[in-house]
Amino acid sequence: MFTILTGAQFGDEGKGKVIDLLAENYDVVVRFQGGDNAGHTVVVGGKKYKLHLVPSGAIFGRRLLIGPGVVLNPRVLWNEIQALESEGIELDIGIDAKTTIIMPYHIELDGLREKARTEKIGTTNRGIGFAYVDKTAREEVQMGDLTNPARLEAKLQEIGPAKEKAIADMGGDPTVVRYAPFIDEYLEIGKRLKDRVTDVSREINIALIEEKNVLAEGAQGAFLDVIHGTQKFVTSSFTTAGSACANLGVGPVMVDNVVGVIKAYITRVGEGPMPTELKDDLGLRMREKGGEYGTTTGRARRCGWFDAVLGLKSVYLNGYTELALTKLDVLTGIDPIKICIGYDLDGETLGYPPEATEDLARCQPIYEDMPGWTEDISEIKDYDDLPANARAYVERLDDLLYVEPLDNCIAAVSVGPGREQTIFREEPEE
Ligand code: GDP
Ligand code: IMO
Ligand code: MG
Repeated sequence: MFTILTGAQFGDEGKGKVIDLLAENYDVVVRFQGGDNAGHTVVVGGKKYKLHLVPSGAIFGRRLLIGPGVVLNPRVLWNEIQALESEGIELDIGIDAKTTIIMPYHIELDGLREKARTEKIGTTNRGIGFAYVDKTAREEVQMGDLTNPARLEAKLQEIGPAKEKAIADMGGDPTVVRYAPFIDEYLEIGKRLKDRVTDVSREINIALIEEKNVLAEGAQGAFLDVIHGTQKFVTSSFTTAGSACANLGVGPVMVDNVVGVIKAYITRVGEGPMPTELKDDLGLRMREKGGEYGTTTGRARRCGWFDAVLGLKSVYLNGYTELALTKLDVLTGIDPIKICIGYDLDGETLGYPPEATEDLARCQPIYEDMPGWTEDISEIKDYDDLPANARAYVERLDDLLYVEPLDNCIAAVSVGPGREQTIFREEPEE
């Protein structure tokens, strides 16, 4: 069985939690895009693990893979492996030989570019965008090169001068390109990871042929996608479900399920339009109650009402067969709860987001009110035990996100960060 899981909003939907939970039924968990801009939180037995590159099936002890579509900072990966192993979590992890390496000059360029922008993107400053630029420009260093000093040296000879010039042109320090200690450090990490370098596409295809279960773990979210998102306020990878096949080298006919993780409200970290953003006390309350601070950068996340207009687009972009609704507990005590069911753009009512980011930024949300609930729902195990108003909210979102040929529905509701704080829902009757 091959399942793809992606974030349905602007990232931080709770993908880490849902992947950890699903991992029980999977043999392999594989990351297919992004890099250490991702921060996926897994809470097991009250202990919190913040994962940036190691897939979220780690705690269940699954075979973990990092695919060639990921941009990988070896230093971050090595530190993460060390930290997990020092806590007694043995990792069976493989990294594709073709995985793009984030070099120190990518991080330098990310910082310089962001500083020079009059209108900021608010990147995570991890060098993500510039690493993908080099991949597309065919000037990348790959994981396999870190295990072959002569090849790394030859590549740096070839691509180094252009990087030095780019940094100098932006007023930075070009010596970072040939700064020997980092090259030595990267080669040392390469030596230590050598036995873990693998061919991810081959491994996954063989696993599927052997009828094993493979879970592809997305990072970021639909509206941070570099094609379909809110450019320029996006990341530099393809974050929607279709990209998993291309990035992992698995044919589309192998896909069985596509799971979307969607928060019961919406958050965004960094700049860019967010029509339902709450800039008042309620937004602050959601932030505090939901612990909405970035896992990677610690930045405060912007919070707002659930946006069903964006939600529908996300279902289209990903073709979800199932949704996991997270953080419903955070809405406890808020009354009424608003759902954005349309936009007003220059007097016209829209039921689907406009294509231009500039137009989305001008959209005024049209809301529908739902009654709230006050009961603590964080320990509830059965869907029918949820307060009637909480069920009505879930069912309203279900209706708004339903797409006929997909037959998608909210199959799980998360009511707390812990693995056990999840309610599985019977498929609604036709
Ligand atoms: P990801 O990037 O999609 O994996 O999400 P993050 O880990 O960055 O952010 C989600 C945060 O919400 C984490 O701190 C999770 O532990 C937490 N979380 C996940 N699901 C729930 C939930 O249902 N309720 C609450 N209160 N917290 C949750
Ligand atoms: P997870 O996987 C939320 C945002 C950044 C910035 C934009 C571009 O935890 O959901 P980048 O460093 O990627 O070039 O930054 O994308 N961003 C995320 N926002 N969750 C993430 O990952 C994100 N990864 C990147 O804040 O606005
Ligand atoms: Mg996150």
